[in-house]
Amino acid sequence: MTRLTAPTLRILAIPLFALSLAPIAARADVVAKAASPDGRITLTVSLDGEGRPSYAVQRDGQPLIADSRLGFMLTDAPKIERNLTLADTKRDRRDTNWTQPWGEWSTIRDNHSEIRLAFREKTDLQREMDVTFRLFDDGVAFRYTLPDQPNLHHANIAEELTQFAFAQPGTAWWKPAFEWNREEYLYDKTPLDAVGTAQTVMTVKLASGTHVALHEAALVDYSAMNLARVQGNMFRAALTPGAGTAKASRDAGFSTPWRTIAIADDAAGLYMNHMILNLNEPNKLGDVSGWIKPGKFVGVWWNMIKGEWSWARGPKHGATNANVRRYIDFAAASGIPAVLVEGWNVGWDGNWFGNGNAMNFSQPTEDFDADALAAYARSKGVTLIGHHETGGSVSHYDAQLDSAFKWAADHGEQVVKTGYVTDAGQIERVDADGTHHREWHEGQWMVNHYLRVVQAAAKYKVSIDSHEPVKDTGLRRTYPNWVSREGGRGMEYNAWVGGKNPPEHEANLAFTQMLGGPMDFTPGVLSLSGSEGSTIQSTIAKQLALYVVLYSPVVMAADTPENYAKYPGPFQFIKDVPTDWSDTRVLNGEVGDYVTIARKEKGGDDWYLGAVGDEEARASQATLDFLDAGRSYVAEIYRDGPGADYRTDARHAIVIEKKTVRKGDRLTIALAPGGGQAIRFVAGGKPRRR
Ligand code: NOJ
Ligand code: CA
Repeated sequence: MTRLTAPTLRILAIPLFALSLAPIAARADVVAKAASPDGRITLTVSLDGEGRPSYAVQRDGQPLIADSRLGFMLTDAPKIERNLTLADTKRDRRDTNWTQPWGEWSTIRDNHSEIRLAFREKTDLQREMDVTFRLFDDGVAFRYTLPDQPNLHHANIAEELTQFAFAQPGTAWWKPAFEWNREEYLYDKTPLDAVGTAQTVMTVKLASGTHVALHEAALVDYSAMNLARVQGNMFRAALTPGAGTAKASRDAGFSTPWRTIAIADDAAGLYMNHMILNLNEPNKLGDVSGWIKPGKFVGVWWNMIKGEWSWARGPKHGATNANVRRYIDFAAASGIPAVLVEGWNVGWDGNWFGNGNAMNFSQPTEDFDADALAAYARSKGVTLIGHHETGGSVSHYDAQLDSAFKWAADHGEQVVKTGYVTDAGQIERVDADGTHHREWHEGQWMVNHYLRVVQAAAKYKVSIDSHEPVKDTGLRRTYPNWVSREGGRGMEYNAWVGGKNPPEHEANLAFTQMLGGPMDFTPGVLSLSGSEGSTIQSTIAKQLALYVVLYSPVVMAADTPENYAKYPGPFQFIKDVPTDWSDTRVLNGEVGDYVTIARKEKGGDDWYLGAVGDEEARASQATLDFLDAGRSYVAEIYRDGPGADYRTDARHAIVIEKKTVRKGDRLTIALAPGGGQAIRFVAGGKPRRR
C-alpha cells in the first residue's frame, strides 16, 4: 500500500511546469530519513526539483557522504534518473544472530534497520525503481530493485548512475580498475581527490579521522562495480563491461548487489565489520560439516613458480609420482592435511597462458598415476588438492565442469584450486552457435561462471579456491564451499625477480581486500628467497604472522619440504596454527603501516596473535584482555631477532621464547623493518598438539 509521507506530499505539490524550469542545482527536499540501531549513523534521501533522487550519510551529525545521485543508464531506453517521485516507503528492523560453518567468527550478529523506497517516474513511462537501504551501527548499504512492469520487462544496463560523494577530503588506498593485470596491483595511497578509477574495496581515511570502505555485497548475475572519480571527492559506479553493449543485462524483477559503505573510527574498526556477510543470503548448501574442511596444505608449487620445475611435461615436470609422494610424506609427517598438485593434467605443454584449450581436467599426465597417488595419500591421512588452470578458456572449462568435479571427487579431492590466467578482458567465451567473445574477469558473464563452478563443485562435495577470481563479495555465506580466492597480489610475486611485494603490502591488504573475505595469499616462505637467489622483503617472523593476519580457511605452507627442514623452530608455528576461528579481534592498526590481530581457535581455548608492519621498525602495545580471566597461558613467541631487517641477511633473525601471561597483561610487540611477530597463547599452560 502506498503511504505518502509529509515530505512526499510536499514534492508532489510542486507544479509540473516548475519542474521543467527548475535550475540545474535545484533545491532538494528530504523525502526519507533513517538511522542505524544505535542512532549514530543517519541517512537522508532527497528529491531535487527535477525529481532526481539522492542519498546522504551522516555520523554523529557529521556529513560523510554528501548528496549522491542514484539511477541507471540503459542501452535501449531513456535513463531512469529524473522525474521521479516517492511512491511508497516501507520500514523494517532486524536483530538476529547466525553461525558460520567456518570463518573468523563463529557467531555473527545482524543488527540493522531498513528502509525501502519506491520511486516512480512522473512521465508517461511511469517506471518504478526501488532502493532499499540497510543501516548498521558500522555502515550503510543499499541496492536497487527494478520490478517487472509494463514499460520495463528487461533491463540492459549501460551504466549505474550511483554516486559516492565524500563530504570531506581524505586519504585513499586503492588499486586501478580495468588494467591488464586484473586484481594484481599494489595499493596506491593518494589524496581522495587524486584517485583515478579504482576497484573496490577502496578504503578512505577522511580528514576527521573516520574510516570508510566502499565495496559491494552479494555480486550475483550482475557485473562488478568499480569507482570512477568524477571530480573532487565525488565518485560514480563504473560497472565492468562485458562482450555485449550492456554492462549488465537482466529480466526485470531483480535486485542489484548491495553497495556498501563501511564506517568506523579507525582501521581496526573497519575489519570488525560484518556487513558484507550479513547482506548475503544464508547458506544454500545445508549441513556442510562433513565435507567442507578448513585446513592447511603444502604443494607441488613453489618450485614451479620459481621456474625450477615446470607445469608442462618434460625433464622439469613437477607433478611426478616421486615428487607428489614426497610431498604427501612431508604433509603427513607435519600434520598438514592436504597437498596441492599443479601441472598434473594434460594441456600445459604449449603456451597455456591465455589459452587453455588443450586442458583436460580428468586426464592425468603419464608420470602422474592418479589412482595410485590418491590411494597413497589416503593411506597417509592426506588428501590431494586438484588444480584446474583454464588459461582463460572458460567455455572450454564450462564444458568439462561436471566430469572434472566428478573426477576430482573420485580421487578424494576435497578442494580444487582454479585459475584464469589471461589478461583482463581476454577471457574466451564461445557460444553454442560457435561465435567467439572476449569477456572480463569481473563482468556479468564471468560472475555467473565463477558461481557455476562453485555450484558444480558443491554437487560433488568439493570446495573451491579461485585464483584470478572475481572479487569476494561475501558469497561464502551462501555457498560455504567457496572457501578462498586469490584476487590480489599474493606470495607468487615474491618468487619473481622483478615486482616483489613491498613490506607494507600485507598491512594494506588487511584493511582493503581482506574486508571482502578470505585470501589465498600462500604465506610461509621461510627461506625468504625466490628465483635466481632473489630475496623476499620480509623477516621470518613476519611469514609466521601472516597465518593469523591474512585469514583463509585453506592456507598454504608455500615453501618446499627441503626449505622447511632448515627452519624447524619457526616451522613449529606453521604446524600449530589453526585455520578456523571462533573469535577475532583487531588490537591495533593503520592502513598500510601495521596491524595486530588476535584470533581464538575454533573448538579450543588457545589464542593466536599475528602482527605485521611495513618498512619501518616500530613497537606497539597489545593488551591481552581477550584471554580468559583466571587462567594462565604460555605465550610461545616468535619475534624478530636482534638486528632483523628485510634489507639484510638478518631477515632470518628470529627469537623463539616462552612467557607466562594472563588476561590484562601488556605485551610490547616490536617489529623490525619488514618484520612481524606471531604468538601462540597455550591455555592452561599445558601445550596441546592437534
Ligand atoms: C597463477 C596462480 O596465482 C598460481 O598460484 C598458479 O600456480 C599459476 N597461475 C598457474 O596456474
Ligand atoms: Ca595469480
